Amino acid sequence: MTPHQIDLVQSSFAKISPLGDDAGRIFYGRLFNIAPDVRRLFRGDLEAQAGKLIQMLGVIVTDLKDLDALLPAARALATRHVDYGVEPSHYNAVGEALIWTLADAIGPEFDEEAETAWRAAYGMLADEMMAAAYNGGMVA
Ligand code: HEM
Repeated sequence: MTPHQIDLVQSSFAKISPLGDDAGRIFYGRLFNIAPDVRRLFRGDLEAQAGKLIQMLGVIVTDLKDLDALLPAARALATRHVDYGVEPSHYNAVGEALIWTLADAIGPEFDEEAETAWRAAYGMLADEMMAAAYNGGMVA
């Protein structure tokens, strides 16, 4: 990712974070629409989960400039996700639901350049998480 892309990700996240749980609700609505089979994995309170997701995304977005801090936390998060029943194919659905949420919440200001930056950020993170969780800790 270029420094400019990191700026774009951070500035677009700043537009959705004030929406808090509402952004989380949009996200889960979309996720369960495109991947109905993952609904059964969420056993806890979805309201609380929506808040946690946005909070965790905030940490990730802040730490994009400090990958030494971000990657160990992301790998540990991915390992916990194996216990939640998450499979590699689910990462794509979550990425698409995330992009959709950003576009829905931000509107036309979420332009092609911002979308490309988010795809780069989520793709990098998902690759690291999947490598840690499903390839015995080796980055593919
Ligand atoms: C960047 C990617 C992701 C982030 C930042 C994220 C964030 C979180 C956080 C913060 C939690 C709370 C528990 C914990 O910290 O261990 C959680 C739980 C969970 N996540 Fe994720 N997650 C991501 C990807 C995914 C994917 C791809 C799936 C697949 C559907 C998923 C499904 C779940 C489930 C099922 C739980 C447990 C919910 C429950 O107990 O009801 N997550 N996630």
